[in-house]
Amino acid sequence: MKPADPAFSLNQTLQVIRQRHSIRMFTKQEVSEDRINLLLQAGNEAPSAHNQQSWRFIVMRNQKRQDLARLVTSRSGDFPRPASTLLRMAARSIAGAPVVIAIANTGDLIRHGTQLFKVEKEMAHDFFRTMEIQSSAAAVENLLLAATSLGLATVWLGILYLIKDDVLEFLGEPKGEFMAVVPVGYGVTSSRGPQKQPLEMKVRYLDR
Ligand SMILES: Cc1cc2nc3c(=O)[nH]c(=O)nc-3n(C[C@H](O)[C@H](O)[C@H](O)COP(=O)(O)O)c2cc1C
Repeated sequence: MKPADPAFSLNQTLQVIRQRHSIRMFTKQEVSEDRINLLLQAGNEAPSAHNQQSWRFIVMRNQKRQDLARLVTSRSGDFPRPASTLLRMAARSIAGAPVVIAIANTGDLIRHGTQLFKVEKEMAHDFFRTMEIQSSAAAVENLLLAATSLGLATVWLGILYLIKDDVLEFLGEPKGEFMAVVPVGYGVTSSRGPQKQPLEMKVRYLDR
């Protein structure tokens, strides 16, 4: 647990935002279907550009999760360090978690973008791809926060982007875009996660 911060004590939402941190190792305790459903519903409540809701959640347990871990390990050797190490670490988290949720974009917004906006094809592609990524990232964060609120541990594994074509094929989303793979379980560590840099480094007020 992170130490309490009075600024976040105002309500439970703020406390959950403060408490969320990445956990990469999990106990063998199962996570109920109901809880996973809540995470998926929380993800699905995210805002999305043009209300396209173009995220897809792929839930893996048992053998499928082990198969994904094996795929990641087998491809890790194709990359130099540190990518190879991060891929192997990701594979360990995937294999060790009782449930793994992958998030992919459908790519629909990208494909239909030029019809929606009568702008140059390349610009429409860039614009809509960015919008899809941002929308799905909001869905992933909703899911992570919901997990924290239920006492569940998660980590957003982005490193699998390096082998995204293989992963998307594996997930049955070959036309989609890789967003994240999130192992879900009960965490073994009591770590607090890294300290965040002070706000003064991040914020500028243009008029106050
Ligand atoms: C887009 C994205 C990709 C990430 N990819 C990985 C990853 O591949 N492997 C990993 O262990 N952590 C990954 N993380 C987790 C970050 O390492 C973590 O969020 C960061 O160190 C801050 O720690 P915290 O989540 O505990 O606050 C990723 C996080 C984000 C937002």
